[in-house]
Amino acid sequence: MENKMESSFDFFDENYINLDEHKIILVTGGAGFIGSNFIRYLTSKYPNFKVINFDKLTYAGNLNNLITIEDNVNYVFFKGDVTNPKDVKTAFEQFSPDYVVHFAAESHVDKSIINPDIFLQTNVLGTQILLNYSREHKVEKFVQISTDEVYGSISNDLNVNEDAHLKPNNPYSASKAAADLLLRVAYQTYGQRINIIRSCNNFGHYQFPEKLVPVIIHNALNNLEIPVFGDGNNIREWIHVEDHCRAIDVIMQKGKSGETYNVGTGNKWKNIDLVELILKKLNVSNNLISYVLDRQGHDIRYSVDCNKIRQELGWKPQIEFEEGLDQVIIWYTNHMDWIEEISSGKYMNYYDDIYKPRMMETE
Ligand code: NAD
Ligand code: DAU
Repeated sequence: MENKMESSFDFFDENYINLDEHKIILVTGGAGFIGSNFIRYLTSKYPNFKVINFDKLTYAGNLNNLITIEDNVNYVFFKGDVTNPKDVKTAFEQFSPDYVVHFAAESHVDKSIINPDIFLQTNVLGTQILLNYSREHKVEKFVQISTDEVYGSISNDLNVNEDAHLKPNNPYSASKAAADLLLRVAYQTYGQRINIIRSCNNFGHYQFPEKLVPVIIHNALNNLEIPVFGDGNNIREWIHVEDHCRAIDVIMQKGKSGETYNVGTGNKWKNIDLVELILKKLNVSNNLISYVLDRQGHDIRYSVDCNKIRQELGWKPQIEFEEGLDQVIIWYTNHMDWIEEISSGKYMNYYDDIYKPRMMETE
């Protein structure tokens, strides 16, 4: 693996807090996609913070994601499972965190349809266990990394704000909605300081190659079919992961306790249009596109109203979509070794489990 800081974007253009403050941040799921981007962000921006990465290292957790900062004095890795109270207790006793930023989750919708149970265990029970110890240790703030999927499918021309009803349609989003309700209880019943963050679809470096953008890039570069679910007309809203990291930072430090914040860009694409855009950028033919059986309960459209974070906290996305996408395509092209390491392991089993039955049904 190449050992360098890959981001070409400037993390340091806005300072939200006094950089001299010494804070201990427990980041769960820090070896995954967004968590590892957030840890690189925190360790670079706040040298006085101590960042604890609490991660079980499931199939989606990869310490190679943090190779550029693993020797930093302000970074510690703790192998632990959020569903195991002993692990959580030990970490809280050892580190006494000021903030908990909770990314750890089973995150892939297709997997949740095949095996919902682990989603409930990790995403719901794991959240409650972390909340219990956060209360006991008087954590300053617990930040829940939720998702726009909790609102369910949103009809055309509507954006949902934070007061919208939760209407999840798949086991993953139902487990995330349940966790959000546990945060509400922690705030209402126990007076814990919390925030909930509901972001749209992220893209960026180190995204596990089960998600749409890395699937497209990886398959295009390897002359493999690109599976498009259903008719490809489902709409997703996209944000560069580094813009999401900046939003988490400002909410963690300035968000009013008890509040939920949507995080999005307004930048919405039909899946098929995004596939064709990336193929065009890679100069690869659309002939690789293969329409496959649709995802069960596939939400048609997500779309969040982000006026609250913009107006109350002054956050706005900084990375123009196509500029960010170009940079991410270059990153994957230069880091095929990262994907190959995954491909040689459990990822291939996963790929066969998810795609082979779909392809057989449409043949
Ligand atoms: P990911 O699947 O890439 O990473 C998940 C991480 O959690 C992995 O490092 C994994 O090892 C760890 N983990 C899983 N179970 C664990 C357990 N029991 N104990 C400790 N660690 C465990 O996920 P991601 O895409 O980075 O998403 C991170 C969070 O952001 C999730 O909570 C997800 O719901 C949310 N989210 C993701 C997106 C997106 O577009 N990817 C958008 C909005 C919200
Ligand atoms: O909206 C936020 C959510 O975004 C997060 O909460 C989830 O953790 C994250 O996984 C993501 O969920 P999606 O289901 O939207 O992401 P995914 O990349 O799996 O799929 C994006 C869209 O592309 C979706 O409509 C399904 C479709 N798709 C996906 C894959 C992997 C395809 O057509 N082909 C594919 O191979």
